[in-house]
Amino acid sequence: MKAPALNAPEFETILAGFADTRRRTLALVETISDEDLVRVHSPLMSPLVWDLGHIAAFEDLWLVHRLGERPMVRADLAAVYDAFETPRAGRGELPFLGPAGARAYLQEVRERMLEQAAENGIGDGRIYELVLRHEQQHSETMLQTIQLARLEGYAGIARQSHSASGDSAAGGNEFVRVPGGPCAIGAPSGGFAYDNERPRHQVEIEEFEIGRTPVTNGAYLQFLADGGYDRREWWSREGWTWKQRDRIERPGGWSEDLRSEWRLGALEPLDPARPVVHVSWFEADAFARAHGARLPTELEWEKAASWDERSGGKRSHPWGEEQPEPGRHGNFDQRNRGPVPVKRHPQGSSAYGCEDMLGQVWEWTASPFTGYPGFEPYPYKEYSEVFFGDEYRVLRGGSWATRARVATSTFRNWDFPQRRQIFAGIRLAK
Ligand code: AVJ
Ligand code: FE
Repeated sequence: MKAPALNAPEFETILAGFADTRRRTLALVETISDEDLVRVHSPLMSPLVWDLGHIAAFEDLWLVHRLGERPMVRADLAAVYDAFETPRAGRGELPFLGPAGARAYLQEVRERMLEQAAENGIGDGRIYELVLRHEQQHSETMLQTIQLARLEGYAGIARQSHSASGDSAAGGNEFVRVPGGPCAIGAPSGGFAYDNERPRHQVEIEEFEIGRTPVTNGAYLQFLADGGYDRREWWSREGWTWKQRDRIERPGGWSEDLRSEWRLGALEPLDPARPVVHVSWFEADAFARAHGARLPTELEWEKAASWDERSGGKRSHPWGEEQPEPGRHGNFDQRNRGPVPVKRHPQGSSAYGCEDMLGQVWEWTASPFTGYPGFEPYPYKEYSEVFFGDEYRVLRGGSWATRARVATSTFRNWDFPQRRQIFAGIRLAK
């Protein structure tokens, strides 16, 4: 089966994307010692070297084997790198490749993949795009591991200076109004999207208010000062149980004296104007209740981010037809070592005036992760469908660590409500 090749410019663009993504993957781990690549830094995360081998195995399976119809470079490793068969908790003990072996495997698979692409083309490009985005997503996962590992002096991402601004008065408690009415949710047909973003469907959303910015460190400090972690009435039953059992008293990465936070390679002064990050859904929910607010549903979030009444339902800037530009439309694509102060990217504000929706921090929503009406798994059930249900909550918007290609207004991330390794923060709604 030889699908018609994409035309040359598209072909070149996607291959350039592969090369750029691989440079980034390798740069992230270049300065990390072999010992730290192999170590299990957190029970929640795989060793970094597992991610490297898994990236290669995914490309091996989908592009060399399934699309290219060639034998896998390393069929013997398929089970070791199958994320679904082997949950993260057990990965430290697996017979996976070491740092040199994983790098060699990445390289060998890439050579085979390029050979097969030159010979047979890349079909309609969808599986290629899936594999490319898979590597980009794992680069964010690896940054979560690197953040949790507290690698002193880590320099895999350049430091950019942002003057700490004192202005955190609003802190996420300033709201914009979004009128009720119909709105199209999800990715349009044609072009690449993950299965869980489809089909696009029309929904009626009642009028609501949503935070102009994510909740800042400054506002979160005030929540702590108000006894936020001691006020039972602000917490759900499950959230309170989780907090008591795990002795949670502040966001992940904050020092005990609440004056600094860990930012990728160093402990830095806590800037009140930056979005709070490394909070669980339970903490986001408690913060919202303490402010007489709630978390937005994912549908409200998508409307506030990308709907534009005036353009007859076209996605609005910065999430329209063109890909948003890192640094201009938001803090994403790994340009900084964490969130920067809010309201620094006015060119990326939504039609309703919401800022910092693209990048900075993932934003917890009230919504469980489920299939849209008419959902069809693609290309396999284990990508999304097996996670549908009540246990997971949806996060939207992308973080500072999300690569440009995966940061779209319809992208749905998901995790358990107690998780704090994600670069996740809070946006309120009413
Ligand atoms: C969409 C981030 C939840 O890491 O489980 C990576 C992405 N899927 N490899 C995950 C993914 C397969 C996924 N998230
Ligand atoms: Fe994966």
